[in-house]
Amino acid sequence: MKNNYSLLEHNTFGIEAKARYFAEYSSVNELKHELNSYLSMRETDQDIHVLHIGGGSNLLFLKDFDGLVLHSAIKDIEVTAEDDSSVNVRVGAGVVWDDLVQETLHRGWYGLENLSLIPGEVGASAVQNIGAYGAEVKDYIQRVWLFDLRSMEEKVMTAGEMQYAYRYSILKSNALRGRYAVTHVEYRLSKTFTPHLEYGGLKKAVEGMDNLDALTLRKLIIDLRNSKLPDTKVLGNAGSFFMNPIVERSVFEKLLALYPEMPHYDVDTNRVKIPAGWLIEQAGWKGKDLGCAGVYERQALVLVNRGGAKGEDIVRLCETVRKDVREQFGIEIHPEVNFIE
Ligand code: EPU
Repeated sequence: MKNNYSLLEHNTFGIEAKARYFAEYSSVNELKHELNSYLSMRETDQDIHVLHIGGGSNLLFLKDFDGLVLHSAIKDIEVTAEDDSSVNVRVGAGVVWDDLVQETLHRGWYGLENLSLIPGEVGASAVQNIGAYGAEVKDYIQRVWLFDLRSMEEKVMTAGEMQYAYRYSILKSNALRGRYAVTHVEYRLSKTFTPHLEYGGLKKAVEGMDNLDALTLRKLIIDLRNSKLPDTKVLGNAGSFFMNPIVERSVFEKLLALYPEMPHYDVDTNRVKIPAGWLIEQAGWKGKDLGCAGVYERQALVLVNRGGAKGEDIVRLCETVRKDVREQFGIEIHPEVNFIE
């Protein structure tokens, strides 16, 4: 366990914050051991304050963390079931997400290709149901292995029990937030490649290509992402900062009458999703800065650290953008990024 540990390398926003204690573990036993040492070191009047992080690509530290920050280095990949058409793989939470995508495609196991290059690690993929290019990881998850940070008991949840929805699982609910660490995730993948190209930009990108294979599709998606999203090593950011708002159809129709070119996706018969990036661009924020925090010039959904930003600078920009979107469109946009106090 480390003391007063800098979290700079553990958050892609590049915010300078420190953890009072930091521990990395490679097994459930080590996790128990680290938690017990933290509990024994605490001064009696101090609250239990534990934060579990993954790749730090969806976090915004608002100040130093006065507690224990945990990070998984469980990295095993194990086949748990297999037949002629599919394979189940159980993967340690600490495996880098895109390494898993690459590894599965190389082994001829398909499904995750549209989720190429999403930052972060396997544990977080199951907590927040990562998604991109028309795919969501919930459609591949079978089971999630959890460790209860309070009772120190292990537990397995099925995908159904995880209550997945857009960027949501039960582990993000108020009741369970912060309660469990994900230790392993089991995915079910296909031995047959079926390209999913429904997402607008993809169909166009593969036009004229015959025999599209999964690694070529992966390459296309990587190129698309690189053209829209800033490299965190060059410009600190946490990918999409906001979720795309889902509104009632009546609200959507009134807006469409005013903005006929507004992009949108049907969620179901009553609800429509509107891209927050479009709303923010219309509100005039694309490419603009407020102090050291900025709205990325090529994708307005991404807030960036222009250099030396503190958590509060990003929050100030976030709230200003939300207010302007609310005033112009009457729509509330919510951060996807987790704010950590
Ligand atoms: N748009 C604008 N201006 C902008 C940005 C977007 O008008 O500045 C418009 C685009 O023209 C397009 C629509 O908004 O018509 C959607 O944009 P895009 O295809 O770039 O996708 P997105 O809705 O902005 C979502 C995910 C991304 C994912 C992409 C690709 C969320 C919150 N974000 O973004 O996920 O990579 O789709 O599938 O759902 C992430 O979560 O970190 C992330 C990057």
